[in-house]
Amino acid sequence: MNILITGGAGFIGSHVVRLFVNKYPDYRIINLDKLTYAGNLANLKDIEAKPNYKFVKMDICDFEGVMNLMQTEHIDGVIHLAAESHVDRSIKDPFTFAQTNVMGTLSLLQAAKAYWESLPEKYEGKRFYHISTDEVYGALAMTHPDGIEPPFTTKASSGEHHLAYGDKFFTEDLKYQPHSPYSAAKASSDHFVRAFHDTYGLPTIVTNCSNNYGPYQFPEKLIPLFINNIRHRKPLPVYGKGENVRDWLYVEDHARAIDTIFHRGNVAETYNIGGFNEWKNIDIVKVLIKTVDRLLGRKEGEDMDLITYVTDRAGHDLRYAIDSTKLQKELGWEPSLQFEEGIEKTVRWYLDNQAWLDNVTSGKYQDYYHDMYDKR
Ligand code: NAD
Ligand code: DAU
Repeated sequence: MNILITGGAGFIGSHVVRLFVNKYPDYRIINLDKLTYAGNLANLKDIEAKPNYKFVKMDICDFEGVMNLMQTEHIDGVIHLAAESHVDRSIKDPFTFAQTNVMGTLSLLQAAKAYWESLPEKYEGKRFYHISTDEVYGALAMTHPDGIEPPFTTKASSGEHHLAYGDKFFTEDLKYQPHSPYSAAKASSDHFVRAFHDTYGLPTIVTNCSNNYGPYQFPEKLIPLFINNIRHRKPLPVYGKGENVRDWLYVEDHARAIDTIFHRGNVAETYNIGGFNEWKNIDIVKVLIKTVDRLLGRKEGEDMDLITYVTDRAGHDLRYAIDSTKLQKELGWEPSLQFEEGIEKTVRWYLDNQAWLDNVTSGKYQDYYHDMYDKR
């Protein structure tokens, strides 16, 4: 198979590219990425010389370019991750989000449709897999019908018990109710993907995943930003009261889910991906402080005074919580890591890879493409 992965130089994309390149030596993996501020080829240093891997610098909005690439590389499957992904940026600059997330997705859909329809086998053996987010479902309340104070132990439809901050979860049949320009643009792209299946028969799959954490995440997002700040003893800007709840999944578990669904998921289906792992922001921040302090040989918790409550994010969604029972039951995927283990691994990685963080925060990482490709 020849697989086009978009956004492969970003956080999640780089883990997906690495997994596919290493696990499937018989596949050819074409990584298409515009290398925006969020794209960093240093994320893929360990696999960039592999014979089944190729990088192409391109904007997904460039329809002619994408069409040409699909034809010359004989693309059989698309795994689409390229997007503008940061909610705070979307509040400042919604246009870029509409352009990349909506128009870019449309350009890819149209190119896949045109190329695959031109082949004798048409859509047979082809797959367009769109990676989306749980944020399209909106926000959940933090309530229990019997007035029990959250967090409480609840039973997921999978039958397992876990801690939750409300009695409702995001399921695949929920109505979309996006609030931020980022989630509105992602919701719109999801609708286009489904419309291409319903109208033209394009073999599409959509997945909606919860918050990811792990190595190579751009340090504008909560976890890497705060690890870096704690290390340098800089203030930790907690939005509002830190009461918002997010549902965290280790990035490699997301990549494994993508592998499972790409190969075994049913066309036209939606799968939610998450690990039933809800945390209040302020509690995560405290875990991060204690973990960084301990690993740096400081007194555990001595950096608690770095916590600084700042003005809340506009339209800040209160709670996200994914119900991934369908994926777990139908395709047998489940998360491999407990959060405590995953967060320890993640903090260690950022502390051991300070050069990676420094390159990103200084902006030097953007020279990497030039050194790797322009000079060759
Ligand atoms: P990221 O911001 O780290 O990476 C995005 C990548 O897309 C970058 O490499 C960037 O250069 C590339 N890109 C951006 N615009 C482009 C364009 N016009 N053409 C080509 N490439 C472009 O994002 P991420 O956190 O890795 O998220 C990847 C995908 O997963 C996104 O679609 C996001 O909506 C979705 N998602 C993310 C999370 C999360 O917690 N991070 C959770 C669920 C879903
Ligand atoms: O739910 C999936 C989504 O998770 C993805 O679709 C997005 O691409 C991804 O960025 C992420 O969105 P969030 O807005 O939840 O992630 P972020 O790391 O920006 O923020 C996590 C929580 O922490 C959120 O409630 C806002 C809060 N926060 C964030 C930052 C950056 C702070 O309190 N302070 C901060 O400085």
